Amino acid sequence: MRYSGVRREKRRAGSDCVVIMNYFKHEKALVHPNSVIGEKTRVWAFANVLDGATVGSHCNICDGCFIEKGAIVGNHVTLKNHVCVWDGVTLQDDVFVGASVIFINDRYPRSNRSDAWTLEKTTVEKGATIGAGATILCGLTIGQYAVVGAGSVVTKNVASFTIVCGNPARFQGYACYCGRKLNHELKCSCGASFRLDGQQLKPA
Ligand SMILES: CC(C)(COP(=O)(O)OP(=O)(O)OC[C@H]1O[C@@H](n2cnc3c(N)ncnc32)[C@H](O)[C@@H]1OP(=O)(O)O)[C@@H](O)C(=O)NCCC(=O)NCCS
Ligand SMILES: [Zn+2]
Repeated sequence: MRYSGVRREKRRAGSDCVVIMNYFKHEKALVHPNSVIGEKTRVWAFANVLDGATVGSHCNICDGCFIEKGAIVGNHVTLKNHVCVWDGVTLQDDVFVGASVIFINDRYPRSNRSDAWTLEKTTVEKGATIGAGATILCGLTIGQYAVVGAGSVVTKNVASFTIVCGNPARFQGYACYCGRKLNHELKCSCGASFRLDGQQLKPA
């Protein structure tokens, strides 16, 4: 198998400045020339990054992912295989999205309609993890470093550092920066400690 490193030049709108971008694109990936891809990002086979999509640096976009115009993917984001990131979905830095996670941007879809549909935006905040096969309803915020269990159906906002599981997804505990569950004293096996400030978990 031969892989190609890609060096792309892009002229910033309204300026003479030329930005050189270096990222890695598998020869069987589709990357539209008007998408933005940050340096050291890897885009693997059968991924499709559309015109107007934005992907940060150091990301890993695995086989079969689809990133639509209007989607925003931050830096150091991992999209495991077969994840579609639609218009209106923002994934902040360091987000992990497991294989075959489903995002949604239209709550009341119809195929043949005459009225306009409403795009409901979803944000996954810095450092959050979404387990494989989870479905994230639209108009939601998944808070920083939250963890969504594999196969869960998320219907409500998820608070930062919380773990939610099931269908519908419910609070299951608190997560550390490292992704593990905290014990009853809000301590992690990695050594980190937290405290509750009202409803919010904060580093101790
Ligand atoms: C959510 C998660 C982090 C919890 O891990 P954990 O803290 O070790 O949890 P445990 O295995 O101790 O389970 C605690 C309880 O939650 C339940 N549970 C765990 N994961 C669950 C899930 N995804 N959905 C529903 N329930 C779940 C367990 O059955 C158990 O229930 P019980 O107390 O009634 O027995 C983990 O199960 C998970 O889903 N990780 C995501 C992995 C993944 O998708 N990786 C991506 C690869 S592409
Ligand atoms: Zn930890």
